[in-house]
Formats: sequence, structure tokens, C-alpha cells
Amino acid sequence: MRITLNGTPRDVSPAGHTTLLDLLRDELALTGTKRVCDRGACGACTVHLDGQPVYSCLTLAAGCEGQEIRTIEGLGSVDAPHALQRAFALEDAAQCGFCTPGQLMAAAALIAGNPDPSDDEIVAAMSGNLCRCGTYPKIVRAVRRAAGMLREASHG
Ligand code: FES
Ligand code: FES
Repeated sequence: MRITLNGTPRDVSPAGHTTLLDLLRDELALTGTKRVCDRGACGACTVHLDGQPVYSCLTLAAGCEGQEIRTIEGLGSVDAPHALQRAFALEDAAQCGFCTPGQLMAAAALIAGNPDPSDDEIVAAMSGNLCRCGTYPKIVRAVRRAAGMLREASHG
């Protein structure tokens, strides 16, 4: 079956029981997406499926035929980081960093649909992403800052 992965068409043949998380990490070597609980309880495995954030550990790979998948590897790069990646660094919003890819993908989906989210909207949108290091206040600040950077950039 064919998927679009970070903008590039890919042909993959996942077994029926393979989750999207397993496909990404174990078969396609995209290990930026993290496996923590592997049961839909933490959000570390969040990716975008046709622009919507999903837990890839709860998503069957075979159900993704024809869909667009975006992972943290497709959000930005070291040379061209996404505003969220810059803002997380500036606000020191990652400690161990293990939850961070999932946080970034959840935040990216939020900002794409709501360029000026309130703190309450940020908290609500990110409530499915747990951080064992407890960096929540910094994460909210970073998402707010990134949204501001993107608004500024779009106004030229
Ligand atoms: S690893 Fe998927 S929700 Fe925790
Ligand atoms: S930064 Fe460590 S779990 Fe979030």
C-alpha cells in the first residue's frame, strides 16, 4: 500500500497487526516518534494523520493507506527548525526530552488550526501529552511563543 510520509510517497507492506508506531520506528527507522506506554495513555507517539494528531501506538498501519503521515522528522530540521522547535529551546521546555516529539506534534496541529490559542486552549489541546518531568508551564509558554513567531512571520 502507498502512504505519503513527510511529503514523500512510500510503498509499505505492514502486517495486519502492525501499528503505525511500529511501522515508523521498526520498519522505517524513524525513531523520533517515541514509544513509552504503547497503549494510548501518554501521547509520546503522537504524529499527524491527514493533519490530525493521533496516537500512532493505537493506529493500525494498514488503515493508513492513501493517507498523509507527518512525523517529527518532517516538522523541521537542525538547519531549518520549526518555530515550535525554536520556541521549545528558547523556553527550555524539554528536560529529558522524551515526551517532546509528541508535544511538538500536538502543538503543531493546534497552531495549524488556531494561530492564536489562549493558554486554556493550549492546555486543552495538549492534555493528552504527558510529561513526566513536569515541564508543563514551560511547554505552554513555548507554544504561545511559537504561535506568536508564526503570526509575525505571516504578517511579513
Ligand atoms: S506510546 Fe502511544 S500513547 Fe503512549
Ligand atoms: S521532558 Fe521529560 S518527560 Fe517531558
